Amino acid sequence: MEQEKQLIGPIGIFDSGYGGLSVFKEIKKQLPQYDYIYLGDNARVPYGTRSFEAVYEFTKECVFKLFDLGCNLVILACNTASAKALRSIQQHDLPPGKKVLGVIRPTTEIVKAFTTSNKVGILATTGTVKSESYKIEINKFNPEIEVFQHDCPFWVPLVENNEMDTEGAKYFVEKDIHKLLEQSQDIDTIILACTHYPLLLPIIKQFVPEHINIISQGPLVAESLKTYLDRHPEIDSKSSKNGSMQFFTTDDPRDFESKAEIFFGQKIKADHIKVS
Ligand code: DGL
Repeated sequence: MEQEKQLIGPIGIFDSGYGGLSVFKEIKKQLPQYDYIYLGDNARVPYGTRSFEAVYEFTKECVFKLFDLGCNLVILACNTASAKALRSIQQHDLPPGKKVLGVIRPTTEIVKAFTTSNKVGILATTGTVKSESYKIEINKFNPEIEVFQHDCPFWVPLVENNEMDTEGAKYFVEKDIHKLLEQSQDIDTIILACTHYPLLLPIIKQFVPEHINIISQGPLVAESLKTYLDRHPEIDSKSSKNGSMQFFTTDDPRDFESKAEIFFGQKIKADHIKVS
């Protein structure tokens, strides 16, 4: 009984920075009963322009820090980490009884429900685009869907620096959306395949024609986690349920608190954590 008690822990949510808060917000809404620890690697953001090896090492360090803090299940609320590190961690690094899930599969599984033209656009970091993970995953289930991609390397820095409502943000968002949409006139669905991008949604909507669906991942990932926990009672029973939240950042916690309030929609308290 004592031993069982020790195994129970919070669910870990990881992102390179603030973007994962857009996913966490939805998870908390749909699954408020669980305990959560959010870890943002703000000191090393962005991941999107880094090599496979760097993203893998950084992600692994953060995931293991969350395991050390008692998490049995960690969600990579980061597409770049999901694209470049998830599979290697799952195949080579997981200690017994620990699980890691990403955000790409829950998104690609449902994309068919949104498109009628079978032409889907992906906006993501350079790392995610280069990995081709979206193309591969979408075509695994739906080979008839044609996937068009464009990377937006300036969007994450805009969000991390709270420059979402500026002329600079408008300039880059307009330019990048144009670059995606010029690849095909028939794109009817755009996936915001970076968890930072929903924070730019008010500007994105200004430049995307109304008939095009814009998909943010938060609600999809939350729904998928709910289903996963229902289907895996052995993981669910190891997830503590007191409705608590803890936030850690590898950078300045005061800075994290002020920005997280904007992104998460409520005041939070954060602590600094060292992961390497
Ligand atoms: N938010 C992350 C994603 O979903 C990555 C941002 C970055 O660090 O470049 O891809």
